[in-house]
Amino acid sequence: MKKIIIINGPNLNLLGKREPNIYGSLTFMEFFETVKEKYPEVSLEHFQSNIEGELIDKLQEAGFAYDGIILNAAAYTHTSVGIGDAVKAIETPVVEVHISNTFSREEFRHQSYISPNSHGVILGFGLQSYELAIQSFL
Ligand code: DQA
Repeated sequence: MKKIIIINGPNLNLLGKREPNIYGSLTFMEFFETVKEKYPEVSLEHFQSNIEGELIDKLQEAGFAYDGIILNAAAYTHTSVGIGDAVKAIETPVVEVHISNTFSREEFRHQSYISPNSHGVILGFGLQSYELAIQSFL
């Protein structure tokens, strides 16, 4: 069974209530339960933190043990050299995901410290971006 983990960064615990015009009205756990049922052949886990160091710890832990990492580093995407370095340091392929099309938003969201070392990038498809990332590992 393939082991895949979704790692979500800051404020993504507020999905469903946070700017629903951009991020939709579903909570992440509602979406996650549906997707887990849809892909029973995958061992799918989820981790969320608002803390940069905790995200780095989780990347290091999963990065030598899992078959795939789906990372939405949220705002840290645009600021964190540390998370970018962690993605570079680990063995497990990382697919960078964003719910919104960051390129159609403010200019500071066009920069990513994750993309240069990602296996691929999926953005702009709402929560379906995560599902497309899962499919990329199958
Ligand atoms: C996001 C885009 C980021 O720019 C933003 O800071 C987020 C969410 C997305 O999934 O669209 O928190 O990563």
